[in-house]
Amino acid sequence: MIMKKELRKAIIAGNWKMNKTPGETGALIKEIIPLAMNADCTVVVCVPFTSIAVAAESVKSSPVKVGAQNVHFEASGAFTGEISAAMLKEAGAEYVIIGHSERRQYFGETDETVNKRTKAALEAGLTPIVCVGELLWEREADITDEVVSRQIKLDFAGISAADASKIVVAYEPVWAIGTGKTATSEQAQEACKLIRDRLAALYGRKTADSVTIQYGGSMNAGNAAELVAKEDVDGGLIGGASLKAADFGEIIKAASK
Ligand code: PGA
Repeated sequence: MIMKKELRKAIIAGNWKMNKTPGETGALIKEIIPLAMNADCTVVVCVPFTSIAVAAESVKSSPVKVGAQNVHFEASGAFTGEISAAMLKEAGAEYVIIGHSERRQYFGETDETVNKRTKAALEAGLTPIVCVGELLWEREADITDEVVSRQIKLDFAGISAADASKIVVAYEPVWAIGTGKTATSEQAQEACKLIRDRLAALYGRKTADSVTIQYGGSMNAGNAAELVAKEDVDGGLIGGASLKAADFGEIIKAASK
């Protein structure tokens, strides 16, 4: 029997957050490229806006893809400090992280704006990596299911099945981000399966089975293999460990099995 997991290509995406100047970007990418050369997964580096152009130049003639970490939902206009999807695309990004918990916590991101940003990204031909996940108190109160289901419902509102299948979802329990506290592989599987079931309820099983669902939150060289081996975990969104080429390389290897 072919497992559904084998129909989906895992995506290992580095979320560099607010790290690396344009000058430092080329050097790290140069170290990452050989590690991605024979990978059986898609490798993406989501870099700061100011590093996108140099990253796009650096990954040329390699399998590594470039992503951004946010996008505004309007096409242009009086939105000081914001960046549009077309700007990202032209600068060389193919992916964009949307609704990361740091955006939700520190910058007032809501499911409504996540939904609008996702639509803008899709329209420009970018692949959105939509982040969902519960806070610590929400897990402790045993409402993870409700929280994540609500995020999926709102973040995907008004998005067609054809577009939904182009979206990558990253399940990132907020308590596991940058804390060194990883969800167990069972917890990760349970939440990723829940997300797939919610997508199946919205779009049907076939579409849900085609969606890449990543785990994120303190994924590292030591725990990646167990996490990405789970049936509904299709790779990872990696913060801290994506800034060290050797560690990122180990995670790429783990996802290529
Ligand atoms: P972390 O970050 O791997 O450093 O926990 C993950 C993320 O925020 O995407």
